Amino acid sequence: MTGKFITIEGVEGVGKSTNIAVLEEILRDRAIDYLCTREPGGTALAENIRSRLLDSGGENLAALTELLLIFAARADHLDKCILPALEQGKWVVCDRFTDATFAYQGGGRGLPRDCISALQSMVQGELRPDLTVILDLNPEVGLGRVRRRGAPDRIERETIDFHARVRQSYQEIARAEPERCVLIDASADPDSVRLMLRAAVMDKLPELR
Ligand code: TMP
Repeated sequence: MTGKFITIEGVEGVGKSTNIAVLEEILRDRAIDYLCTREPGGTALAENIRSRLLDSGGENLAALTELLLIFAARADHLDKCILPALEQGKWVVCDRFTDATFAYQGGGRGLPRDCISALQSMVQGELRPDLTVILDLNPEVGLGRVRRRGAPDRIERETIDFHARVRQSYQEIARAEPERCVLIDASADPDSVRLMLRAAVMDKLPELR
C-alpha cells in the first residue's frame, strides 16, 4: 500500500514549521511511519539548487531558469526520496511542492500556467498531494516576521506586490481544488491555528480519525 502525500504551503513567514510540527504530532500519535522533507531540497543535489535559488550570489536568474531549476530539483527529490518513501507505505509531509511553483513562478513571476502544468506532468506524471494545507496570511505580516529572523533571501527580497500575487495565487488554488486543499487563516493565534489544522486534517483524511 502506498502512503499519503501531504504538502504545506503559504507566503513567507506564515508559520509552516510550527504547523508541520502539528502534522508530525498527529502522525506520531497514530504510529504512522512518515518522512518529513522540503522543497526546493530534500536531496543533496536539490539542496544545492535551493542554495543557488535563494542566494544567486548577485547573479541575475531569469524566471524561466528559476522554473527549470525548481523542476530539476523536484525530479531528483521525487526519484530519490518522495516516491521510494510512498512506495514503502510511508506518509510524506513536504514543506512546499508544486503549488509553490504555481504561486511563485506563475503568480509572482508571471510565467504561463500551461508551461508549469506541462512540466508538472513531465516530472510528476499523475502524482498529486492527497492533502495540501495552505496557510493564508497578509504577506506584510509574514515578511515582517522574516525580517526579524535575519537577512531576507533572494525571493523574500521581492516586492510586496510580488508577494501579494503569491498569496492571491494560493487562494485561487484553494478555491479551484477544494477536495485536495484546505485554506487556513494563519493570522489567528497559534492555538486556534493548531485546532483548525487538526480539524481540517481529520476531515480530509478520515483514516486519521
Ligand atoms: P522556504 O521553504 O523556507 O519557505 O523557502 C523556499 C523558497 O523557495 C520560498 O521563497 C518559496 C520558493 N519556492 C518557489 O519559488 N517555487 C517553488 O516551487 C518552491 C517549492 C519554493
